[in-house]
Order: sequence, then structure tokens, then C-alpha cells
Amino acid sequence: MEFSSVNALCLHLISLAFQRCRLSEQICRLSVILNRSSSSQHPSVQISISDTGIGSCLKEFQDLNFSWGGITEKWDGMLSVNTTSISDPEIYNYQFSLKENRSSRRINRLPSYQKNGAKFSGTEVFLSFAQSLDILLADVRSFLQKMLILRIPNIALQLVAEDSDVPGSRYEKVFLANKPMQSPILASNLQHLKSGFEEYVLTHGNSLNSKCNSCFPCWEHLKVGSGRACCSETELVMEAVIVISNVSKDNSTCLRESGDKTEVMYFKDFSPCTIPQSSMKALKSVGWRRYGLNLTGTAQQDGRALLEWENLPTDTQIDIVLHSYHQQTMIRAPRKESQTGRNLVKRAVKLSLDDLKNKHAGALLSARATKICSYAPDLGKTIAGLILSSNDLEFQGECLSLLGLQSQRVGAEIVENRIVQRIVSVIEMNDKKDQKTQEAAPFLFDDDRLREEEFQENDEGDYNMTALGD
Ligand SMILES: *[C@@H]1O[C@H](CO)[C@@H](O)[C@H](O)[C@H]1NC(C)=O
Ligand SMILES: *[C@@H]1O[C@H](CO)[C@@H](O)[C@H](O)[C@H]1NC(C)=O
Ligand SMILES: *[C@@H]1O[C@H](CO)[C@@H](O)[C@H](O)[C@H]1NC(C)=O
Ligand SMILES: *[C@@H]1O[C@H](CO)[C@@H](O)[C@H](O)[C@H]1NC(C)=O
Ligand SMILES: *[C@@H]1O[C@H](CO)[C@@H](O)[C@H](O)[C@H]1NC(C)=O
Ligand SMILES: *[C@@H]1O[C@H](CO)[C@@H](O)[C@H](O)[C@H]1NC(C)=O
Ligand SMILES: *[C@@H]1O[C@H](CO)[C@@H](O)[C@H](O)[C@H]1NC(C)=O
Repeated sequence: MEFSSVNALCLHLISLAFQRCRLSEQICRLSVILNRSSSSQHPSVQISISDTGIGSCLKEFQDLNFSWGGITEKWDGMLSVNTTSISDPEIYNYQFSLKENRSSRRINRLPSYQKNGAKFSGTEVFLSFAQSLDILLADVRSFLQKMLILRIPNIALQLVAEDSDVPGSRYEKVFLANKPMQSPILASNLQHLKSGFEEYVLTHGNSLNSKCNSCFPCWEHLKVGSGRACCSETELVMEAVIVISNVSKDNSTCLRESGDKTEVMYFKDFSPCTIPQSSMKALKSVGWRRYGLNLTGTAQQDGRALLEWENLPTDTQIDIVLHSYHQQTMIRAPRKESQTGRNLVKRAVKLSLDDLKNKHAGALLSARATKICSYAPDLGKTIAGLILSSNDLEFQGECLSLLGLQSQRVGAEIVENRIVQRIVSVIEMNDKKDQKTQEAAPFLFDDDRLREEEFQENDEGDYNMTALGD
């Protein structure tokens, strides 16, 4: 990775601090302080990024590649780093210049400070460059908000910005991932991602500070599905979360920047990043049609990946997040990674679509099932007519009891509705199965519990088949 703007480099330095926090597995604070001052010759913003995570091994700074070609900001290329690990007796201070090439970069070691027996660890990085405080603040804020989607429970993020020439300009915000009750510290990464992403959707892609009740009249009814695919060979994991929401579009403040399109958020190794081409391709090859979705195109705009749909119901909004990481972050196995990565995207997305479909009756029905469902009312009326017009009371009673109705004196409408419900639920049940294994359609008049069990067995069978088929 090569950084060609100081803003992008700052975001990367924040991401490095976030990883040091994450790996510490202790309660950790990450502070970003932006301070603009014109007192020196050139007005500049001083940036301090500090964390109480594990100390830095410096390699992460030595390895930085900075391209000076197109840089518009005024920067001397200097990074100052103070760092200490829990077992170090002192705080080490270093300086180095990114103007020097990576291979020949020298590290200037400054006098260190004794910790006098105190036990703590952490890192602080300073740099200073000429940039508009507003632009930098906006970039950093939206980056931290993206980080928050991961909901790593041990990390608190703090952002402070001040223009020391403007009295009262101090801005401060604390972002906490661990909202009590919602994400217990032992929950999996995927559970955290799920809850963080729901929050993201409900705050409109974080353009709002709190959940927007007027845009989500029934926000507790978000439909959420998640899936996790991994590949033992490379220890690579792909997690996906899909949220389908019903956003009131009467209110223009409820519209997203991306409109009806789906923005796919991408995280790699616990850091927001642009989606790789291979993952975009994988998204295109997901069998969306089986879920009644008609993908008409994909686009990449300003580093954002967009999916375009056709025939999406007016108020429907689909949001997707993908997170790819190595189960043991220290081990890298780049062999065949893009190939397996592509399959993993496809599988994780499919698993989350299936999960959503299983949890929400009537969601993500294929176009075919939707069409068949549209015949259900007529069919229900006809069958109800046949039953109720029969002179054979024993037959009638048996039909009604199979439909779960007690008395023979129930109205035609109730019988009809019950039959329609049964037909629709059978269609939905069939639609959840892979098309390959659809020979044996369940019976209309059948014991629900038996069918449920049978269905679950089939479902697992299907999944294994797909996994092998991939
Ligand atoms: C910098 O470039 C080298 C060589 O291309 C690469 O190995 C290294 O990972 C890059 N550093 C970062 C932080 O991306
Ligand atoms: C910004 O710098 C000024 C002058 O050095 C200092 O007084 C102020 O406390 C700093 N603000 C922050 C948020 O660190
Ligand atoms: C951090 O480093 C800076 C300069 O590199 C130094 O002035 C400062 O005293 C250091 N802070 C600590 C706590 O060691
Ligand atoms: C760094 O490397 C580039 C080519 O890779 C070269 O053009 C440039 O002169 C080098 N700069 C320094 C300071 O060594
Ligand atoms: C979506 O919300 C509108 C009202 O805002 C409602 O009329 C419609 O039935 C809802 N659709 C779904 C699928 O919940
Ligand atoms: C539109 O949404 C905003 C943000 O939630 C809300 O403050 C405003 O009252 C809404 N306007 C209407 C007309 O519903
Ligand atoms: C999906 O889009 C294609 C291309 O626009 C169109 O031909 C097709 O009829 C659409 N299918 C559905 C089910 O909407």
C-alpha cells in the first residue's frame, strides 16, 4: 500500500493504533487530537494519535510507503513516535522521515524516559502538516465511525479538534463500541459486526448521531442476516452482514447519499478499506435472482462500491458489509488468496441471504415463488368452496381439522384465509431450498412440526452440497 496524501496516511496511522488496541485485549483508549495553530511561520495542524494498546515494534512505521509525486499538502515527512510495551523499563522515542526511501530510511533514536517501575504500554505518534482542519476532521470522524461498525468491545475512541486561533472552537467526541447489554465482551466478531452495522443503518450511514425514528417507523423490524465462511487452508475468514430496511422516502432527510443503490462496506483485517476488484466480481456472481433480487450493475465511486438493483420495492433499502481477516493475524498465506477470497465472498453473502430468508417469512422470495404466491388467493377460494359445498360432513370435518380449525361453523373467509396461508407457507418453504433438490414438494395438508424438522435436515444437506460445489 502506498499513501499519496497525508490525510490517507493519518487514517492508516489511526488504523495501526486501533490494531494495537485490539491486540492488547485490555480496555484500551485511542485518542486522536487535531490542533491547528498559526503561531509558527506556516499555519499547520498538529496531529497526535495515541493508544494504550500493545507497544509498537516500529516495523509498521518503517514499512510505510509514501509517494511524494502528487502530494498537495505541505509536509516535512517527519513522524515522531513514543512507544513502550508493558515489560519495557522505559518509553522509547524515535523520529524518522518518510522523505527517505523505505530501504534507506534511518531511524533517529532520541533519549528515552524511565518508567520508574510503572507498568503500562502505549504509543503516541505525532506529525504536523499544512491542511484545513475541517477537511481533516471530517475525514477522521467518518473513519472512526466506520471503525465503530466493528464494535470491538475493548476500545474507546476519542476525537478532539481545536483551532487554537479561534476561542471556543474545541470539538470533542467519544465513540464507545461497547454499549452495555448489546454486545457482551464474549460475543463473536460477527455478532459485533452485526450489531454495529444495524446501528450504522439506523443512523443513516452515520450521517446522524442517533437512531432516526422518523425514517424507520418500525426500526425494530430491520431484517438482518449474517454469514461466515472460512477456508482452513489459508485461515482466511469472510464475514457478511445484510440488512434490509424499510426507509420512509417521503422525508428527503431520510434519503441516502447513494440513493436506492446498495453501498457495500468493506473491512480488511479490522480496518476499513476499498473493496478489492476480486470481491466486486464475486458479488456480481452471487445468485441474487434466487432471492428475487435483480442486480443490474455495479459501480465504484470515490472508493465506494455500489450495487444497482432493478424492481426493488420503493421503500426498500439494502445494506451490505463484508469483513475479511486472518484468523491468526500474524500468519500470512498469500497463496491462491484472491481465488479463495472470491469464493469466500460468494459463500458468506449466500449464507447471510439464506439466514435472512430463514428468519423472515416472505423475505427474499424468488421471482418464481412470488408469482406462484399471486395465484394463492384464487386457489384458496376454490379449495374452500369445494370443502364447504360438500355434503359429506365427515369429509368436511376432517378437512377443517387438518387446517387446524375446530368448529364446522367457521365462516368461508376463515377457511379460505387458512388455506391461502398454508399454500403460501409451502411455497416459501420450497423456495428456501436449493432448486437442485426440489423434487419432493411438501404436502399442503401436513403436520407442521414434522415438516420443520425435515426441512432443517434438507437445509443442512443443501449447504454441504453448495460448499462442495463451490
Ligand atoms: C510498502 O511496499 C512494500 C514493497 O512493495 C511492501 O512489502 C510493504 O508491505 C508496503 N508497506 C505497506 C505499509 O503497505
Ligand atoms: C492546542 O495547542 C494549544 C497551544 O499549544 C494548546 O494551548 C491547546 O491546549 C491545544 N489543544 C489541544 C486540544 O490539545
Ligand atoms: C515523545 O517524543 C517527543 C519527541 O520525539 C518528546 O519530546 C516527548 O518528551 C516524548 N514523550 C514522552 C512521554 O516520552
Ligand atoms: C527513492 O527511490 C526513487 C526510485 O525508487 C528514486 O528516484 C529517489 O531518488 C530515491 N530517493 C532517495 C532520497 O533516495
Ligand atoms: C414500509 O413502510 C411503509 C410506511 O412507511 C408501509 O406502508 C409498508 O407496508 C412497509 N413495508 C414493509 C415491507 O414493511
Ligand atoms: C424528517 O426527518 C428528520 C430527521 O429524523 C426529522 O427531524 C423531521 O421531522 C422529518 N420530517 C418530516 C416531515 O417527517
Ligand atoms: C431483470 O433485469 C433484466 C435486465 O434489465 C430484465 O430483462 C428482467 O426482466 C429483470 N427481471 C426481473 C425479474 O425483474
